[in-house]
Amino acid sequence: MPNEWWRDAVIYQVYPRSFADSDGDGMGDLPGITGRLPHLKQLGIDAVWLSPFYPSPQHDAGYDVADYRSVDPRFGYLGDADKLVTEAHHLGLKFIVDLVPNHTSSEHAWFQAALAASPGSPERERYIFRDGRGDQPPNSWTSMFGGSAWERVPDGQWYLHLFDVSQPDLNWGNPEVRAEFTGILRFWLDRGVDGFRVDVAHGLIKEATLAEWTQPSAILGGLDPVGPRPPMWDQDGVHEIYQEWRAVLNEYEPARILVAEAWVAPADRLARYVRPDEMHQAFNFEYLEAPWRAADLRKVISSTLAANDSVGAPTTWVLSNHDVVRHASRLGYPAGTRRMNGIGADDPQPDAGLGLRRARAATLQMLALPGSVYLYQGEELGLPEHTTMPDEVREDPAWKRSGHTERGRDGCRVPIPWEADAPSYGFGPSDASWLPQPATWAEFALDRQAGVPGSTWELYRRALSLRNEHGLGRGTLTWQETSSDVLAFRNGDVLVLSNLGKSLVALPAGARVLLTSEPLDADGRLPGDVTVWAVV
Ligand code: GLC
Repeated sequence: MPNEWWRDAVIYQVYPRSFADSDGDGMGDLPGITGRLPHLKQLGIDAVWLSPFYPSPQHDAGYDVADYRSVDPRFGYLGDADKLVTEAHHLGLKFIVDLVPNHTSSEHAWFQAALAASPGSPERERYIFRDGRGDQPPNSWTSMFGGSAWERVPDGQWYLHLFDVSQPDLNWGNPEVRAEFTGILRFWLDRGVDGFRVDVAHGLIKEATLAEWTQPSAILGGLDPVGPRPPMWDQDGVHEIYQEWRAVLNEYEPARILVAEAWVAPADRLARYVRPDEMHQAFNFEYLEAPWRAADLRKVISSTLAANDSVGAPTTWVLSNHDVVRHASRLGYPAGTRRMNGIGADDPQPDAGLGLRRARAATLQMLALPGSVYLYQGEELGLPEHTTMPDEVREDPAWKRSGHTERGRDGCRVPIPWEADAPSYGFGPSDASWLPQPATWAEFALDRQAGVPGSTWELYRRALSLRNEHGLGRGTLTWQETSSDVLAFRNGDVLVLSNLGKSLVALPAGARVLLTSEPLDADGRLPGDVTVWAVV
């Protein structure tokens, strides 16, 4: 299956606001990304996924799309997008864009038309408008960002928004909505993109009666494998949509892909999204959320591999993205502490040294697993979360809508450092940065790490190169029995040991070490919170 490039691809997420700013306005842009693509090539990734860059009022950092077929002037022009795709291809990188089908921006022409039209009109039928219960909203559903999921319009009707009030949910029961989105898919496919990351893929279809649901929604759901399925998530009707999209993608050569952002559990329920006639991949958030304990990790790795194997799909692995606390900080709390969203200066602070040590061990573990891997910009620098950001600069709508109880996701979205001594650490030519960068970030800058043995950047580069050389992405995992604090598996000729305990662990006799996340001790034993790759 040489054409099935996604099966073992390492896909790097670029968050356009914060990757590279070519014009010095403090906001990243497409020419900035194009200029830095050689960096990604050097890192050794296979593909880029770019978060939304479409025209948007930016109430949810671009996940509120006002026009699906254009580029926000903040980020550039359509020609810049074309250049970016061409240049990525020139470097041998695939290029995936973000598709946001669950909701539009309230500034989208369709929603503006719906507001101007009357109840029952075809314009309103593209969204989910309902009459209220007297003065009350149609039901008690809450927004993922806090507060009611309903907003009242002047004529008295209400519209549903599972996210911000500026993100009205589309009505996927309406054939016009379906036709519009296959048109959008073709628009970008015809421009040469290699696929789509599908935002909120588990939310498009709502239970037909909008059945009452009174539990509060945690931001981005959280995965509840046992409770009853909420009426807004993971409804069976979504699969028909992805079958239709897959048929469109199948018309294109070389292969284009769909990857589901679906906060769905358990793993066999998520595997339904990647059946042979649906999407190609789904993010493995159960892995991302697993506590730093050998038994928990083994369980989730086994169950997600088994679930994906049962439908012939590759398993994906991910530790960080633009919605969760960076793993270099998340892992700096005691194992089992749930810190997914937002840390403020007055919260307990992570142990930065421990966090980075574990993050490097976790990354080596992840990069040895068979399947496809997603990296989030900055993790290759060992970048932590900004955990002391002043609250007044926060932009995530969750901060405001939650009544200032959820700090939100700004801490993982800070512009990344390239040059230790340049203004904005080389993010752009000026010192402007849409979110403030911590004063301590010089040490993480790329130019402090490139060519430096043992740096996180060099660790990622070496690991990606060995992953390729040993075919780990296409391999098969076999567990090795060892002590309970150690995660031990073989993939092809590589033995991987991750020590999640405190005692030193001896390597098998004759083991030839390929790579370690931190040095072994003087007797060649594996210290706690360290991963080793070896050939035995
Ligand atoms: C997805 C995105 C997140 C966004 C939400 C609403 O979960 O990853 O950033 O806020 O969808 O579009």
